[in-house]
Amino acid sequence: MKIVKAKLADSQNIAEMNFRLIRDEGHRNPMNQAQLTRRMKGWLKGDYRACLFQEQGKIIGYCLYRHDEGFAYIRHFFIERAYRKQGQGRKAFKLLLKDVWKGTGFLRLDVLLGNKTGIKFWKKVGFKEYSLTMERKKS
Ligand SMILES: CC(C)(COP(=O)(O)OP(=O)(O)OC[C@H]1O[C@@H](n2cnc3c(N)ncnc32)[C@H](O)[C@@H]1OP(=O)(O)O)[C@@H](O)C(=O)NCCC(=O)NCCS
Repeated sequence: MKIVKAKLADSQNIAEMNFRLIRDEGHRNPMNQAQLTRRMKGWLKGDYRACLFQEQGKIIGYCLYRHDEGFAYIRHFFIERAYRKQGQGRKAFKLLLKDVWKGTGFLRLDVLLGNKTGIKFWKKVGFKEYSLTMERKKS
């Protein structure tokens, strides 16, 4: 696997993967692909960076992250369905640790409580629960 730093021109491709990520993780975000592309462009023009996971010339996933004070914040992490449960996620994460987050003390991310696969994956690669986000409907 190769980790390729994404460019602004990759925004639409990444947003298409983001659309699938939203469904797979069970997020309630209702944005369509055009809206997700616009949002991704804004993020990449700002503080966020993205890396594409390339396997035999094909993009099989991505990670969106930003460097914060004292930690890197992982906003998105995605492996295409056809490539899951083959160790690709773990491989991509290891490469990011080695090449992209080498100077970072901590890594932080949010995972939906309903995303059991996501929780299992992150625990397998060494994450522990750190904080709990709470919400309620206003009325
Ligand atoms: C979570 C995700 C990135 C895992 O990617 P993957 O390539 O399938 O993961 P790997 O094959 O590298 O698995 C690594 C470990 O995670 C665990 N794991 C991965 N998928 C799992 C599943 N469906 N059920 C149980 N454990 C699972 C495995 O036990 C594995 O450990 P092992 O190597 O000791 O067996 C992938 O399922 C995905 O993109 N899901 C949708 C998006 C998402 O939820 N992202 C995280 C948002 S916070």
